[in-house]
Amino acid sequence: MNPTGEGGSVRLDHFYDKLSSLAYGGDYNPEQWGPETHAEDMELMREAGVNLVTLGIFAWATTEPTPGAYDFTWLDAHMDRLAAAGVAVCLATMTASPPPWLARLHPETLPVMEDGTRLHPGSRQHWCPSSPVYRRYAVRLTERLATRYAHHPALALWHIGNEYGCHISRHCHCEVSAAAFRTWLRERYGTVDALNEAWSTTFWSQRYSTWEEIHTPRAAPSFRNPAQRADYWRFSSDELLAAYLAEKEVVSRITPHIPVTTNFVPIAKTLDLFRWAPHLDVISYDSYPDPHDPDAAQRTAFSYDVMRGLRDGQPWLLLEQAPSAVNWRPHNGRKPPGRMRLDTWQAVAHGADAALFFQWRQSRGGAEKFHSAMVPHAGRETRVFREVTELGAELAAHPALLRSTPARAEAALLLDWPAWWALETDAHPSRVDYLDGALAYHKALYDASVPCDVVPLDGNLSAYRLLLVPHLYAVSQEAAARLTEYVRDGGTLVMSYFSGITDEHDRVHLGGYPGPFRELLGLTVEEFDPRADGTWAEEIRLEGAEQVVAYDWGGPAVTRHAYGDGTAWYVGLDPDPKTMRELLDRVRAEAGVGPAAEGLPDGVRVRTRVTEAGERIRVRLDHRDGSVAVERAAPAVPRAAPGALRR
Ligand code: GLA
Repeated sequence: MNPTGEGGSVRLDHFYDKLSSLAYGGDYNPEQWGPETHAEDMELMREAGVNLVTLGIFAWATTEPTPGAYDFTWLDAHMDRLAAAGVAVCLATMTASPPPWLARLHPETLPVMEDGTRLHPGSRQHWCPSSPVYRRYAVRLTERLATRYAHHPALALWHIGNEYGCHISRHCHCEVSAAAFRTWLRERYGTVDALNEAWSTTFWSQRYSTWEEIHTPRAAPSFRNPAQRADYWRFSSDELLAAYLAEKEVVSRITPHIPVTTNFVPIAKTLDLFRWAPHLDVISYDSYPDPHDPDAAQRTAFSYDVMRGLRDGQPWLLLEQAPSAVNWRPHNGRKPPGRMRLDTWQAVAHGADAALFFQWRQSRGGAEKFHSAMVPHAGRETRVFREVTELGAELAAHPALLRSTPARAEAALLLDWPAWWALETDAHPSRVDYLDGALAYHKALYDASVPCDVVPLDGNLSAYRLLLVPHLYAVSQEAAARLTEYVRDGGTLVMSYFSGITDEHDRVHLGGYPGPFRELLGLTVEEFDPRADGTWAEEIRLEGAEQVVAYDWGGPAVTRHAYGDGTAWYVGLDPDPKTMRELLDRVRAEAGVGPAAEGLPDGVRVRTRVTEAGERIRVRLDHRDGSVAVERAAPAVPRAAPGALRR
């Protein structure tokens, strides 16, 4: 899975060699401050136990104030000072926000919305992902940085860009992007005829006669071609990946010993992270749970499970979180005392080897001055800084956790970005939200204290006794066959409605829904019948499956089908949380999937990590009172391999 192979792990050693315990620190933006503050920064970082900072993320304009005229003196000083203080640096390539001069010289680098509006500089991330001009300037700066700091003692890790796809997710509709889209489509389909076939363009007279007629899905009078839109999402993710790879190629060439990462945004539709993951040496994630959201702990656990799943269980880095409030929601509640600590330990429990914050020092001006930071406006004599200091000391007291392996779960949830993109195109029987579906299934396990991994369609499915498959709307015959095989070989699978409906080009699998899963599930869905209130319903004809739950108005809603050595469940509605929990409790009992620990009270969760020496460390999170306990755990009771328990 990892094209960086062995080299990737050697590079990672370089990162881990700079740390003696979990990484702790934040985005450090010293270019916003003067020398007196810099001196105090070093003092406060020592006090807080900071051992890693991300540096230079938005420093392109400071470093290249006019085109080609570089000023690294300020950065040299900070790199040296940090090295002397024993603080390692995750150095940014600085390319997330181009300086205004790039737009002045090359307005064609600015992104264009689907309605033709060109976006302007003045915030950030104002660049067209397909722009060769932007890439040329970004690569040039990256080359300078990599060459200058290749052997600097502070350099631990490269931070390419920042949050790809955060602001320009459905990225750009300019002529350059349209041409890039055509190139991407040529590679995918070869001929215009094949594209016409895949996009079902005979419908509504959309048949293309040449490549030049094909554009990104710009604003149009009615529903746009769904296959075109799903391909555009694929293209957008790939195009941003290509921008990332252009910079990665530079740092890999000049500094092959330094590992590479980029920070992913909170779980979003934007990027197919399973396609990105092999190109990072270590996954990084930015987590911003809303302190006002009662479901924040579970939603956050889900996102951490996704991050851990991206590289099959490898520890990942929490590269950003807020010490207290953010400033970009309508109402930005602070994290109450203890919450920052609890949130941080939750990340570590779910496999994080780093706890970094946005940002080290709260900005005096600019758009994020009301976003909390490790050092607040009021300085060190504050509740937040005191807690930051206490947390730094506490994390440092558990060095064995660094690089320990998060225990593998017995249950997994299947996540698939292309299915997500196709599911959320227009004109479906009812609106079905992919992420809501995934979260609902995850919640039923989370509420039962059952750990859950997240896997892709081509992942290691046989490692799991139980596989949850929410809304796998678009799926190829080959991928569907993998799931069928998983059950035939003894796995237990739970599939939710509106799965297996179309192929990878959003063309319906004919012969009755859900085409490639009918035999596996032992049923046919005759018709969809969503209710006026938005509740999903459908008419299910049993063809071997047994009815487990009926709709209020009759007819099977949840079914169970013994297939091969395993069992396939089908859920034709959105159960309320209680029903979902009862259903998955029953499924788990049959599949032999237990909780992380017996008898945990509601609100208490535990997760285990295993050190290189085989020691098991258990993190116990009490979401009721915010307390955390990190304790040595008893050795695992040997369990039969999943296959042995299957019939
Ligand atoms: C993102 C960005 C940061 C900052 C934070 C604020 O994660 O990467 O630069 O804007 O959000 O929450």
